[in-house]
Amino acid sequence: MAGYTDSSFRQICMSQGAGMTYTELISAEGIIRNNSKTTDLLKFTESERPIAIQIFGSDPAVMSKAAIIIEKLSPDAIDINMGCCAPKITGSGSGAAVLCDPVKMSKIAESVVKSVNLPVSAKIRIGWDLNSKNYKTTVKILEDSGISHIAVHGRTNSQKYSGISDWNIISEIAGLTPMPVIGSGDIESYDDACDKLKQSGCKAVMIGRNAVGNPWIFSGKTPDIKGIKNMILKHVTMMMESYGNYGVILSRKHLVKYIHDFRNSSSVRQLMVHAETIDDVNQALTHLM
Ligand SMILES: Cc1cc2nc3c(=O)[nH]c(=O)nc-3n(C[C@H](O)[C@H](O)[C@H](O)COP(=O)(O)O)c2cc1C
Repeated sequence: MAGYTDSSFRQICMSQGAGMTYTELISAEGIIRNNSKTTDLLKFTESERPIAIQIFGSDPAVMSKAAIIIEKLSPDAIDINMGCCAPKITGSGSGAAVLCDPVKMSKIAESVVKSVNLPVSAKIRIGWDLNSKNYKTTVKILEDSGISHIAVHGRTNSQKYSGISDWNIISEIAGLTPMPVIGSGDIESYDDACDKLKQSGCKAVMIGRNAVGNPWIFSGKTPDIKGIKNMILKHVTMMMESYGNYGVILSRKHLVKYIHDFRNSSSVRQLMVHAETIDDVNQALTHLM
């Protein structure tokens, strides 16, 4: 998830039982231009494996060049984002906009598949809007292009994050393609993940929003208050190792999620959103009960 799934968070999720990780979507243009902010996003550690580096773009030639650069970093897979609904991404013909152009979709997928020896996967939504749920077409195109596996978020682009992820369609897709399918959308707990895995026929399920502040979702364990405080401090420390003091600011959005369910979360939240140092975080945690 853009803005969340950086190296620190991926390491934490793996330490709690995640089966694999993805980077956030990374611009193929930025990669081939060697843009430093973009290349920072490509960094990962061994403990995040298996890891897929996810790229987005609309030009098959650029996507292919980016994939060749990425292959040198030896991730376990390259994933093509064909599901992002952010207007700044779809506006340039990338992300979920690719779903509207089957010819371009096939060119992008084929060019990346042909350029590298790594497995190439894709992440899609079920269509552009409720009137164009063209998943049967898009899934077949990906299959024919040599894509190794797909992740499906069961919403249309127009839905953004409203409504619910349609697990009936995800399940239908899992039944109609030989490609392994990873189901995505609205998984709330470890048990929910197990149920959806069993019921959908997917080979795996993907957990996004509900892992933020709750990496224990990957193991089904319920941490006590000490475990939560320790995780918060570990997370902030890792963020500082990656980003210096700015890591504290960047970690605020995670911290407020860790404390979400506590009785006095709103007062601790106020302290967390203003924390500038790890001491501020420690101080805030002394109020948590
Ligand atoms: C803030 C945010 C950022 C996201 N960024 C990405 C991304 O970079 N790549 C991607 O494939 N999906 C991205 N997603 C979509 C999620 O991977 C996932 O498919 C979606 O949120 C539904 O699953 P969930 O209910 O478990 O979060 C993002 C979602 C959110 C909320």
